[in-house]
Amino acid sequence: MQEFSPGLSIHSPTEAVLRPNEGLFRLLIESISDYAIILLDAEGVILTWGAGAERIEGYKSEEIVGKHFAVFYRREDIRHNKPRKLLEDAASAGRVNVEGWRLRKDGSKFWANVVITALRDQTGRLCGFGKVVRDATRRKRAEEDLRSLNEKLDERVHERTSQLAKSNRELRESLEQLHRLAARLQAVREDERTSIAREIHDDLGQALTAMKMDLVWIMQRLPGTEKALGTRAQSMLKVIDNAIVSVRRIATTLRPGMLDDIGLAAAIEWQAQDFQERSGIQCVLDIRAENLELDDGHATAVFRTFQETLTNVARHSGATRVTVKLKDTPRVLVLEIRDNGKGFDPEAEISKKSFGLLGMKERALLLGGTFEIKGEPGYGTTVTLRVPSQAGSKSASKSI
Ligand SMILES: Nc1ncnc2c1ncn2[C@@H]1O[C@H](COP(=O)(O)OP(=O)(O)O)[C@@H](O)[C@H]1O
Ligand SMILES: [Mg+2]
Repeated sequence: MQEFSPGLSIHSPTEAVLRPNEGLFRLLIESISDYAIILLDAEGVILTWGAGAERIEGYKSEEIVGKHFAVFYRREDIRHNKPRKLLEDAASAGRVNVEGWRLRKDGSKFWANVVITALRDQTGRLCGFGKVVRDATRRKRAEEDLRSLNEKLDERVHERTSQLAKSNRELRESLEQLHRLAARLQAVREDERTSIAREIHDDLGQALTAMKMDLVWIMQRLPGTEKALGTRAQSMLKVIDNAIVSVRRIATTLRPGMLDDIGLAAAIEWQAQDFQERSGIQCVLDIRAENLELDDGHATAVFRTFQETLTNVARHSGATRVTVKLKDTPRVLVLEIRDNGKGFDPEAEISKKSFGLLGMKERALLLGGTFEIKGEPGYGTTVTLRVPSQAGSKSASKSI
């Protein structure tokens, strides 16, 4: 053990100044109780002890002075040579500031904030170390509590995130199911319409035609004297003719057989003509889709959108004119229907009950296309349907 004189301080003021204050210095070390201020010799043996050291580490001065400061260290720290390394670091760097678990006299541990400062005399010789220890257990525990709270929070966030992802997946699946259901409903509806249209057309149509032929046969054989019968027969013939036209129209509206026979463009022309005659709303056509080759699904979807949109124009718009454009490009088929009616605000008017608009959107979606409705209050409404041109979309369209 070396003799240590606290008068030789780190700042190396002259001994002359410090010697008279030696007593005061001891008093300082002995009475500060918030910190343990300890002097070690160059080997780490404890030279001084004070109130702070006793309060924090539990030893009385006579029990500890003269012992090596490694007594404060846990066994594993000693095994790793921590006390010696700390002194070496302090000696080479001048000072070390570390934190770690240390042991009190009763074996309990506390979290220590430790500053070890190398003390050298004026010639640079290492005389010992100053060690200031503060008990930071409360702060350490608070930090640990905070960390474990954070970890728990992270865990809960993680849990919630995966729950959300699961709900999201389920929602997406439900949505896909809904789309499939909508497609199925459309298909069933079209099938039903087709068979009703066929029955009306074939059965009723044939019956009416047979009636007409028989009536004509009777009329040809009526004696010229039976004027009243002749007039009745004439008016009956008119009724039958009208009924034949009606049956055709009803059947065609239910299922435009002409879609299969004469194609989409012609069916649109026919529907526009019929719409103009019945509603009195002028219908202007601009069809640039010659040699349009569409499968049944596409043709039906486009045609139904056209019909539904015209019905909306007649029912809601108050328009006097409708402009219809049908354009087929190599990539996309576009149907645009613009009216000059009162227009509308889609945000305000598209509600959950707008099944017409929803149905059109759904049809477009099924074909991998889009349906858009834009209204400008006071200026009219424009509906635009875009579906991929046939080459790339045949398979998708089969589901309708
Ligand atoms: N061409 C149009 N002009 C003005 N309003 C329209 C037009 N088309 C649709 N709308 C508005 O959008 C709403 C939703 O249309 P839709 O889904 O077909 O339902 P519905 O025709 O049964 O009312 C209509 O009630 C109407 O307010
Ligand atoms: Mg509608």
